[in-house]
Amino acid sequence: MAKVTFYKSGNSFDIPNNSSFIELEYFESNELPFGCHVAACATCVIDVIYGTQNISQKNEAEHDLLNDLDINGDKRRLGCQCVIHGDVTIEPLK
Ligand code: FES
Repeated sequence: MAKVTFYKSGNSFDIPNNSSFIELEYFESNELPFGCHVAACATCVIDVIYGTQNISQKNEAEHDLLNDLDINGDKRRLGCQCVIHGDVTIEPLK
């Protein structure tokens, strides 16, 4: 399991290793909202505060959308596109 912690609230959730942040929908916490699930809407934009090494590299669709919106950055990700391999601390952009 991987622990996902929200930086400001301190709330944390355990999700299976090698799964996506989309797993958080099962907890119905609404701390990280999702829309399309396919790198098209940017509802799920997050900053990774700790644990970037425990998340998959940005894929092309993720790069493209973040660049199009002019919000790309080293710690900026689309939650729906990340695959989590270990503990992380994140904060939604919205
Ligand atoms: S849910 Fe739409 S980009 Fe992630």
